[in-house]
Amino acid sequence: MADIKIAITKGRLLDNSIAMFERAGYDCSQLKNPGRRLIHPIPDTPFSGVLAKAPDVITYVEHGVCAMGIVGRDTIMEHSHDFYEVLDLGFGKCRFAVAAPKDKDFYAGYETKRIASKYPKVAHDYFLSKGMDVSVIKIEGSVELAPLLGLSDAIVDIVETGSTLAANGLEVIETICQLSARLIVNTAAMKLHRTEILEFVDRCRGALE
Ligand code: PRP
Repeated sequence: MADIKIAITKGRLLDNSIAMFERAGYDCSQLKNPGRRLIHPIPDTPFSGVLAKAPDVITYVEHGVCAMGIVGRDTIMEHSHDFYEVLDLGFGKCRFAVAAPKDKDFYAGYETKRIASKYPKVAHDYFLSKGMDVSVIKIEGSVELAPLLGLSDAIVDIVETGSTLAANGLEVIETICQLSARLIVNTAAMKLHRTEILEFVDRCRGALE
């Protein structure tokens, strides 16, 4: 039987991914109790689930060592995308936004604004599209800290409930775009395992309806 690996983003998207696989009729008993194991066969199918960090899902799929991947649109926008994006999974919904301290006018003054983000490409592209020259600073996490500590004037980040912004005295000043999880497929794998992959995509699509 073919060995077709599906890289699944650990964390927020994992529970929703497993729920979708189960509704699609796949046995996820191993994926639901992963322990420290990172690769889990889906019984009676050619598939196995690989648990990875979001940017690595893209790396494994682009290199073809995983045929498919489940990853947020935010990560796809930040990284290259030499693969097929076949399905909007509808979960992991959030948005990319520019946020700044509530008590300050972000657009006041003429100096170059400093923007902190875990997504420097997205931040740079967004302000470029507005014709605004900004200085982008890469931050690895808890990016809300950057304006609080005086490192930046604003942040570009994902916002889901808005509670992290509110708890830190920040507010959304612009929404960049809506985001959700996507199913991606390696281009060569789509040719090599077309039947199996299309059946998998169909069953996932059915599970979402
Ligand atoms: C994300 C994001 C925000 C928060 C938004 O961080 O970077 O900080 O979630 O969610 P909310 O609008 O529901 O409050 P995550 O928890 O992934 O951790 P990180 O900040 O370390 O990246």
